[in-house]
Amino acid sequence: MILKIEGVSKLFGSLQALHNVDLEVKQGEVFGIAGPNGAGKSTLFNVIAGAFPPTNGKIFFNDHDITSLKAHQICRLGLARTFQVPQTFPSLTVYDNIRVGITFGAGKKTGLKKSIEKTLDFLDLNDVSGMEAKNLDLYTTKLVMMAACLATECKLLMLDEPLAGLSTSEINDFIKVIRHINEDGGTTILMIEHILDSLIDISNRMLILDNGQVIYNGDPEGIRTDPHVVEVYLGDGEVLLGEGDL
Ligand SMILES: Nc1ncnc2c1ncn2[C@@H]1O[C@H](COP(=O)(O)OP(=O)(O)O)[C@@H](O)[C@H]1O
Ligand SMILES: [Mg+2]
Repeated sequence: MILKIEGVSKLFGSLQALHNVDLEVKQGEVFGIAGPNGAGKSTLFNVIAGAFPPTNGKIFFNDHDITSLKAHQICRLGLARTFQVPQTFPSLTVYDNIRVGITFGAGKKTGLKKSIEKTLDFLDLNDVSGMEAKNLDLYTTKLVMMAACLATECKLLMLDEPLAGLSTSEINDFIKVIRHINEDGGTTILMIEHILDSLIDISNRMLILDNGQVIYNGDPEGIRTDPHVVEVYLGDGEVLLGEGDL
């Protein structure tokens, strides 16, 4: 197991955002997370990546107890994440955005040029290397955010709704890039996504969160027919039809 989460809870005041969550991610897999808005998905990423500690529970990364480590310490162990709202340094070039990711995120001081060039090649970003991030389209901005993570030579990459806002053809292309990172780069992926067909397609296993609780953990295809998941997340198409539609 590359990541092991045991009984993690998170309270924001009286709001219980996570309730006793268990999760194990195996080395090399793509693990998908979905669930309604406000279910606690991004909060789970935040406690794993060290934005804030959980209220209860333990988190192990490659057998290190990372529960109370800071974000940069966790990143230096090989766990990197992207954000739901794309974040780049707008006035820096793509090249320098990747450089910032490595120097601040991973604390690397040597071999920077080689790491940046390797990453630009791997994600096919050489053509935009000199462009300022503010001039990039959403798709490329998302690629650059992932590139800054990958350049840290992370072993686990966590992606928070990477497909949000992309067109259908961009979604297909982005999924191919994620597969490339997983299969050719050997990076384990933990991914939150609402676009379920794509998530089911790429994931080896999936977890569904609702109200901070795990309501499903297992085979991706199984979520389509799981009664609890259908009830709280997928919904019943017939019920959604209003009288005017009939
Ligand atoms: N930093 C925070 N402070 C207070 N409440 C928060 C914070 N982050 C998230 N929440 C609350 O926790 C719940 C889960 O949010 P979030 O993890 O963002 O859900 P999801 O990503 O599944 O949509 C929501 O009710 C949200 O308002
Ligand atoms: Mg979220």
